[in-house]
Amino acid sequence: MFGYNLTYYRLAIISMLLLESGEDNVSLIAVVSIGGLGKTMLAKSVFNDEQVQKHFQLKMWVCVSDDFDLKQIVAKIIKAAPNDKNLENLEMEQLQKSLREVLGGKRYFLVLDDVWEENRAKWLELEELIIDSAKGSRVLVTTRSKRIADCTASKDQSHALGILNEDQSWTLFKRVAFKSGQEPENSNLVKIGKEIVGRCKGIPLAIRTIGNLLYGENLESKWLTLNKEFSEIRQASEGVLCPPLD
Ligand SMILES: Nc1ncnc2c1ncn2[C@@H]1O[C@H](COP(=O)(O)OP(=O)(O)OP(=O)(O)O)[C@@H](O)[C@H]1O
Ligand SMILES: [Mg+2]
Repeated sequence: MFGYNLTYYRLAIISMLLLESGEDNVSLIAVVSIGGLGKTMLAKSVFNDEQVQKHFQLKMWVCVSDDFDLKQIVAKIIKAAPNDKNLENLEMEQLQKSLREVLGGKRYFLVLDDVWEENRAKWLELEELIIDSAKGSRVLVTTRSKRIADCTASKDQSHALGILNEDQSWTLFKRVAFKSGQEPENSNLVKIGKEIVGRCKGIPLAIRTIGNLLYGENLESKWLTLNKEFSEIRQASEGVLCPPLD
């Protein structure tokens, strides 16, 4: 389904989720990387895993993004769990009560996807609200910020995703760009394809996007044009990021 490196992380995280351990009722796991490396995809695949489904009494997926208002997050968590609570116009205190009722000593699995908040005090506040649950409950945080990963999860519970290597990048590209994932007979397309993939710098989102654009396209000229445009875009963006010294 995805590049091999994610398969490794998937298994590592699932085994952490299923492990009966620790003093704490709730423990936090973090997945950190730059954008487009597959954090959300990985979290989804863990979330939907059959063993994980069976292990937890309650599973909740919350997309946090740029909004780390505690009240909003508590409301989102409650909404992500099956219940018929009406949350309109509730004050924080009532929300907390509802949250306690929803979690209610259950063994739960909560995903907080795409967290940007680096303020540790806010994190501690949230932790206090969600900590009071059955042993074995787990929270998985995905974030682009190493600081957030460090302040939410212990080192051994934190996974930093890396970019794909050359082989993995090519394998992914082949799967997306070519029918049945097979290299075409035209070796020029393979050569240009490899150059294009090289420009994606191991970032799956880039490889996928460009592979989709080229799917079913057999005209060499189209591939060459795209390769050229891509190289110009990269040069321009590198120029913006690192203006030449004069
Ligand atoms: N290892 C991989 N193999 C194949 N496809 C991948 C891989 N990682 C990511 N993708 C693809 O790249 C896209 C972006 O991945 P995803 O949204 O999970 O990244 P992310 O790390 O959560 O990014 P962001 O920080 O922007 O939230 C997905 O649509 C997925 O299809
Ligand atoms: Mg994401």
